[in-house]
Amino acid sequence: MSDFPAYAPSEEHELLRRTVRELADAKIAPFAAEVDEESRFPQEALDALAASGLHAVHVPESYGGAGADALATVIVIEEVARACASSSLIPAVNKLGTVPLLLAGSEELKQRYLAPVARGEAMFSYALSEADAGSDAAGMKTRAVREGDFWVLNGTKMWITNAGVSQFYTVMAVTDPSAGARGISAFVVEKSDAGVSFGPPERKLGIKGSPTRQVILEDVRIPADRMIGAEGTGFKTALATLDHTRITIAAQALGIAQGALDFAIGYVRQRRQFGRPVADFQGVQFMLADMAMRLEGARQLTYHAAVKSERAMRGEPVADLTFVSSACKALASDVAMDVTTDAVQLLGGYGYTREFPVERMMRDAKITQIYEGTNQIQRMVMARQLLK
Ligand code: CAA
Repeated sequence: MSDFPAYAPSEEHELLRRTVRELADAKIAPFAAEVDEESRFPQEALDALAASGLHAVHVPESYGGAGADALATVIVIEEVARACASSSLIPAVNKLGTVPLLLAGSEELKQRYLAPVARGEAMFSYALSEADAGSDAAGMKTRAVREGDFWVLNGTKMWITNAGVSQFYTVMAVTDPSAGARGISAFVVEKSDAGVSFGPPERKLGIKGSPTRQVILEDVRIPADRMIGAEGTGFKTALATLDHTRITIAAQALGIAQGALDFAIGYVRQRRQFGRPVADFQGVQFMLADMAMRLEGARQLTYHAAVKSERAMRGEPVADLTFVSSACKALASDVAMDVTTDAVQLLGGYGYTREFPVERMMRDAKITQIYEGTNQIQRMVMARQLLK
């Protein structure tokens, strides 16, 4: 049976899960409430993840990285998110920022920018959205104009995760305004480039430890070799990237939901009402069963998608990657919203307070239904795949 085409996690994947869970329980979970309360970057998590080489596990070995496959990367993000959703954006956004390079960047660009990320010296964000170009990403206005051996960028990118703490940014900008989506190109912009600044941190419902800010580009003059791929291919690269990274948002959603379910199970076993643990009541048991059932279903679809992502990264044709990627992202995030809401319900009044982590998990789950494409956009993407 050794050649059976399994997509289940291997023993190595499960060992990785145990390792990350131990690390997250010991070094990330203890700060999760404080990071949320103070809306501060989880530096302890970055330090712990970088010390163990878990901050950007997807970077291939040829660029000094751990070379983890897409399923292993999902497991890392899932386990960090179980402890702290904000912290899980460290490995997730490092992947989002660098996949455009991996898919379309020149060898020289990859060597230059992936190695510092692998060493834990730099993080990488992804700058697609703008104030008036969210779901309609191709409606962006940020402009890049060629001047000799340079491109000069002007515009404001919005909702940029980990803006300010990342050293590097994949920025999509219009190079030919007459060509629509085919007039968009991708660039690497550095935080230290003259003319780069950041808006104030957004005041958000959840993932408060991960800074979300505007990236403001004012006459940012960068060498022409910072373009990722050919001119006019930036929008395709951006969407092809999301085919891989919506799976990591699904992973984040799974982790948040698992954290809430685990906490709720512990709670209902010890909470006594009417002279017995509330876990004895069938109504509570049915809620737990539904939560776990739906979570496991979403997990299996996510792992299935992760294996397809890995195959595609290795150059195999995978016809339905776009579909499964959107499907697992929409399903896992909807499940995470339901599971975390039910976890709050199971804790009753206590669940509604900040004394317990489930209200934070419920707030954090909400963003997974919105970013990397709203779940309405995911359904549109899936329907287009079905009908084409
Ligand atoms: N891979 C590669 N190319 C693709 C593609 C894919 N998955 N999907 C479409 N394309 C190509 C098309 O073939 C087309 O190319 P041609 O003109 O050469 O045929 C081009 O891209 C444009 O495609 P569409 O006409 O389908 O584009 P559209 O404007 O109708 O919209 C969309 C597409 C699906 C709505 C897209 O805009 C979208 O996904 N919107 C959501 C935006 C989004 O997800 N933003 C996330 C921001 S990042 C974030 O949130 C990160 C974070 O904070 C953590």
